[in-house]
Amino acid sequence: MEPIPVLTGKRIVLGVTGGIAAYKVATLASHLTQAGAVVDVVMTQAGQRFVAPLTFHALTGRPVYTDLWSAPGEGLPTHIAHVGLAHAADLMLIAPATANTLAKLVTGLADNLLSTLALAARCPVLVAPAMDVGMWANPATQSNAATLRTRGVHFAGPARGRMASGLEGEGRLVEPEELLGHVRWVLGRRGDLAGRRAVVTAGPTREPVDPVRFLSNPSSGRQGFALAQAALDRGAKVTLVTGPTHLATPVGAQRVDVTTAQDMLEAVLSAVEGVDVLLMAAAVGDYRPTKMEAQKMKKTAADLTMHLTPTPDILSAVAQARGPTGYPRALVGFAAESENLLENARTKLAAKRLDLIVANDITAPDAGFAVGTNRVTLVDTDGNAEQLPLMSKAAVAEAVLDRIDCILRGGTERDHA
Ligand code: C5P
Repeated sequence: MEPIPVLTGKRIVLGVTGGIAAYKVATLASHLTQAGAVVDVVMTQAGQRFVAPLTFHALTGRPVYTDLWSAPGEGLPTHIAHVGLAHAADLMLIAPATANTLAKLVTGLADNLLSTLALAARCPVLVAPAMDVGMWANPATQSNAATLRTRGVHFAGPARGRMASGLEGEGRLVEPEELLGHVRWVLGRRGDLAGRRAVVTAGPTREPVDPVRFLSNPSSGRQGFALAQAALDRGAKVTLVTGPTHLATPVGAQRVDVTTAQDMLEAVLSAVEGVDVLLMAAAVGDYRPTKMEAQKMKKTAADLTMHLTPTPDILSAVAQARGPTGYPRALVGFAAESENLLENARTKLAAKRLDLIVANDITAPDAGFAVGTNRVTLVDTDGNAEQLPLMSKAAVAEAVLDRIDCILRGGTERDHA
């Protein structure tokens, strides 16, 4: 896992309480650490029955706290462990959070290091409950969860599914990947784009030929999803309009699923009103069959000719609509090119009246469609073209959002350079 800017250098107190799902939190501790966070694990006695402190020590490279009376590690503001850890933390995450620990948080009981820390903490608190279906459904736990929510405690789950007991229902710990998304969402709230709204499009469109066939392209949606995640990490409110993909929705994004270019146009036009930025990363089909056959077409020995009609250009429609309103203030397009990259990108930037275009050469095997990496050139309205090296789609998303930040602050592209 590569560093994640919203996590880099952030101090996270990770409280592990007594549930079998504690083993999954070892994966999360590893991911957080690899992403650049400083993770201080605090375990209750029951938590230590499921996973050894050594596991977390090995994964985080830091001391693991198990005792209210232990001395703290290096780099804390005071030598008193519970005060030092609490005051240094950017986030307190309790995962798994048992019914017992939730009840302690509600009443302010401070009978172990974790519950004492939770009382002293000044940072946001995120809990990921995990418990038996009946314990979660119990009015006592439900009432405790409601109280904590009113106090601003963030909840991740619990999820529905099979429990270790064999029962089905609500009470499972959310999976580590999703939990990581919640951590990013909470930490990102005060980012550069806090209070801003973004619409991001992703994935391919599908233009139906008949009930079982369509015209499409190999877009995976990864670049668009990475942009949505990066905008969330900076605190933006994000609507993600996506064609068919297999990707999980970034935590906190409002997802709108569409199929055709026309669907996408309608979804974008209704989502884009008053937003600050539109990032059009979708690979929108340029043509659709003029007529969709009502029945599955039969195969014959003869050649088949199909009539195609151009689809509406979404970016141009938005650019036209923004004339009087001025919104979105930043309009960003993508240009997937197989020849004359810069020339074509500049032509599109002007024709579609964009603020920035992200151009990539799709003939390179390690860039563009359906791979995890991209090699792009950012072309702006001042005529500058910044060629970025081969990087992950997440890193490309960060570079694009740095530019958007600059545009929204009213700086010119030259200020950025
Ligand atoms: O013209 P071309 O399809 O290469 O332009 C690419 C950019 O235009 C992308 O940002 C794409 O999402 C957007 N686009 C659009 N509506 C279309 C086709 C492309 O907004 N019908």
